[in-house]
Amino acid sequence: MCGIVGAVAQRDVVPILLEGLRRLEYRGYDSAGIVVIDGEGKSLQRVRRRGKITELERGLSGTVLRGRTGIAHTRWATHGEPSETNAHPHICRQAIALVHNGIIENHEKLRTQQRANGFEFTSDTDTEVIVHQIYRYFERYDDLLVAVQNALKDLKGAYALGVISTKDPSYLVAARRGSPLVIGIGIGEHFIASDVAALLPVTQRFIFLEEGDIAELTRERVTIYNVEGEQVERPIRESELHADAVERGDFRHYMLKEIFEQSRAITETLEGRISGHRVLDEVFGPKAGEVLDEIQSVLILACGTSYHAGMVGHYWLESIANVSCRVEIASEFRYRCPVVTPHTLVVTLSQSGETADTIAALKEAKRAGFGPSLSICNVPESSLVREADLVLMTRAGPEIGVASTKAFTTQLTALLLLVIVLGRRHKLTAGEEARLVSQLLLLPSRVEQALQLSPAIEELSEQFAEIRNALFLGRGAHYPIAMEGALKLKEISYIHAEAYPAGELKHGPLALVDADMPVIAVAPNDQILEKLKSNLQEVRARGGRLYVFADHAAEVKSGPGITVIEIPSVEDETAPIIYTIPLQLLAYHAAVIKGTDVDQPRNLAKSVTVE
Ligand code: G6P
Repeated sequence: MCGIVGAVAQRDVVPILLEGLRRLEYRGYDSAGIVVIDGEGKSLQRVRRRGKITELERGLSGTVLRGRTGIAHTRWATHGEPSETNAHPHICRQAIALVHNGIIENHEKLRTQQRANGFEFTSDTDTEVIVHQIYRYFERYDDLLVAVQNALKDLKGAYALGVISTKDPSYLVAARRGSPLVIGIGIGEHFIASDVAALLPVTQRFIFLEEGDIAELTRERVTIYNVEGEQVERPIRESELHADAVERGDFRHYMLKEIFEQSRAITETLEGRISGHRVLDEVFGPKAGEVLDEIQSVLILACGTSYHAGMVGHYWLESIANVSCRVEIASEFRYRCPVVTPHTLVVTLSQSGETADTIAALKEAKRAGFGPSLSICNVPESSLVREADLVLMTRAGPEIGVASTKAFTTQLTALLLLVIVLGRRHKLTAGEEARLVSQLLLLPSRVEQALQLSPAIEELSEQFAEIRNALFLGRGAHYPIAMEGALKLKEISYIHAEAYPAGELKHGPLALVDADMPVIAVAPNDQILEKLKSNLQEVRARGGRLYVFADHAAEVKSGPGITVIEIPSVEDETAPIIYTIPLQLLAYHAAVIKGTDVDQPRNLAKSVTVE
């Protein structure tokens, strides 16, 4: 996946495109490029660089690039290594330029045909075949829109595209299928981008293109055609986000800012969703009550960090709500033959709402006969939200750091709301619901308390500067929290980390434990605390170095080979949310000490809109 941005305006669009790219950099940062049309000479002027947007800016500093129409791109490489020649925009015969997010599956076949027709390739990307294909039709019809409409019929795969041509320098064609694309509405100017965040400095009015839509943009108007080629109207929506919602402020990294935003983010997740001691059904949608009445089981589909949230949801749904649940990695689910159970709520969990595997898994679940569906998501109007019957927005606000933090804890909070509304249809009494609701309302202040551990954890993380491996242990709903802690550490510090349910240690991973293997454990004061303590003894007996995040009342004390960070006491059900915080902080501080790129770790991207 990649980030694309484009503009047609009366002013120079280069600063708008560069700011848009900066705001989209979380989507990929292997290379970046920009092309504008110089209105006078009608020529395409392009600058591309390998690396981040700062490299592109450096490349631009020696040039006088100006133009009123342009497109730009930040890349996360799929086909072809990160390099200047593989960077977008791609140009065909100095007439057409294109940026693309997605994957073209039949690129090899098209490439062979195009070579036979005399087209030369300058990159190893799948994208270059699109620009050549458009050019072929452009030669025939002399109309960019018609050329794009025809070329897209020849493509298999996913795309969001922005295309410009020298024929008309105030004209841009955009299209989406399988990858996100929004149109920004300005006054006498129009824009495209992969995400609204890219355009917030210039507009707050957006059209969200639908699957198969093709749009033509001029300064004065936007015309949209659906997959059948019919002209259609799409609503203009006002974004509630402000441009500074994606600023880093005084924080050293976005990730740290987002960790510290968790208390406020959880407050937002809960806002207006509870009345008295009761969670409102309607927060899942107008007819949610009737839909939820029918539900007998839950199937959660998600990837990455969201999958870990789903695993916690699994524990909660079965233990609190008495509703059977399974949770599956979306990229696996989409290719297996699941046994369909009736009245199963399919819950997709996703920060972005654009993860290709999760979208495909939802489609597969629907095709197989599961349903209805619920999307728990952080991005309104995203593909998963639009595919779902019921929706619960997590309202974490934009998350820029590639390693997910506040998106995760707000997903957990949203899942607890779901657990409660389903639970009261099964075994949860009004009294138990009221108790859970008070726990939820206490969460923001408990998160604040946990955040105060940051200096102590920063000090502790010094001991992680030289390590190469780490083991994380947890039990029950804290096993997925241990997994999330391990994922955070490996994502941003590149320390190899694995998580195990603590009871599983003796069945293999104990062989790895020695004085060089730090073992990080989460030890809330729950029913299986004593079992966990025995597991920790097994580590100590083998000379392992233990770091334990333990409830104040758990009576696990620091001593030789064991460092304990005390966590303020918290009720069992909400403990997974609170124990996440110190693990995020540990990963963050360890990465800072190691000097890695915390917000944009190597090889990763925040939103994976390709398979
Ligand atoms: C990428 C991100 C992860 C994220 C995963 C799922 O791999 O780097 O942080 O957890 O996608 O993303 P989603 O938007 O569906 O939650």
